[in-house]
Amino acid sequence: MQDYLAFCQQLIQEAGQMLRDQLAVTHRVTRKSSTFDLVTEVDEAVQQLLVQRIRSQFPEHGIVAEEALAESEASDLTWYIDPLDGTTNYWHRVPFFCTSMALCDHDGPLLGVIYAPANDELFWATRGGGAFNRHGPLQVSHIDRLEQSLIVTGFPYQRAPGTDNNLTEFTRVVPHVQGIRRSGSAALDLAYVAAGRFDGYWEFYLKPWDALAGQLMVSEAGGHLSIVRSEGAIHGAGGMLATNGRIHGALRDLLTGE
Ligand code: IPD
Ligand code: CA
Ligand code: CA
Repeated sequence: MQDYLAFCQQLIQEAGQMLRDQLAVTHRVTRKSSTFDLVTEVDEAVQQLLVQRIRSQFPEHGIVAEEALAESEASDLTWYIDPLDGTTNYWHRVPFFCTSMALCDHDGPLLGVIYAPANDELFWATRGGGAFNRHGPLQVSHIDRLEQSLIVTGFPYQRAPGTDNNLTEFTRVVPHVQGIRRSGSAALDLAYVAAGRFDGYWEFYLKPWDALAGQLMVSEAGGHLSIVRSEGAIHGAGGMLATNGRIHGALRDLLTGE
């Protein structure tokens, strides 16, 4: 496990250097699942670096990555990779974005690493081994009242009026919390819950490469996770509520309208 972790920590920071170097450049952008779902040549170049390196170091491992990948498949040990989580921020040069990598076995994530290049912040967790950044172990916050909590969420790319676009849930939560954010990087949102900066996070329709690394960090940092609306999602990554545990029930009740 320590070998995989060291490999991943080194590689993800190399990828981060690429992202930093290219941040000021104007990027060619194409659209994927909807007008709002962007991909730039940097997403693809970073993914290529990560995939090539994993394939040469661990040829027996599976790789599932966000951008189209020939021979994308799961194996006994599989890497789930988002080369650039927060592409919309990146394209607008807003420095809240990251690379997210999780190594999973059949029971879920074994390790997760998230790197935010703009402020050179590295987060990692191993199953049963805790969650960390360079300053030491991560711990979720102690806030136990919704009115003192800072919550973060995200909206799906398919969000036409009248669809399941999270606006109903957003409206239910806003009046009851101290603050609510839409920061633009699901993986980093989860790392921030693990670090005790945000007290809770929810989002629907997440992909495994968005969620798995951060999910492990939250649980290893003492937080609580509920999987909601995750039919067919890998390791439950579809819809998720992640909190410090103390506000979990109250936030879940608000979200579900109970
Ligand atoms: C997106 C970001 C965003 C979240 C979306 C994700 P991308 O990932 O994490 O915060 O709300 O659900 O798809 O497209 O920037 O990799
Ligand atoms: Ca993503
Ligand atoms: Ca992405």
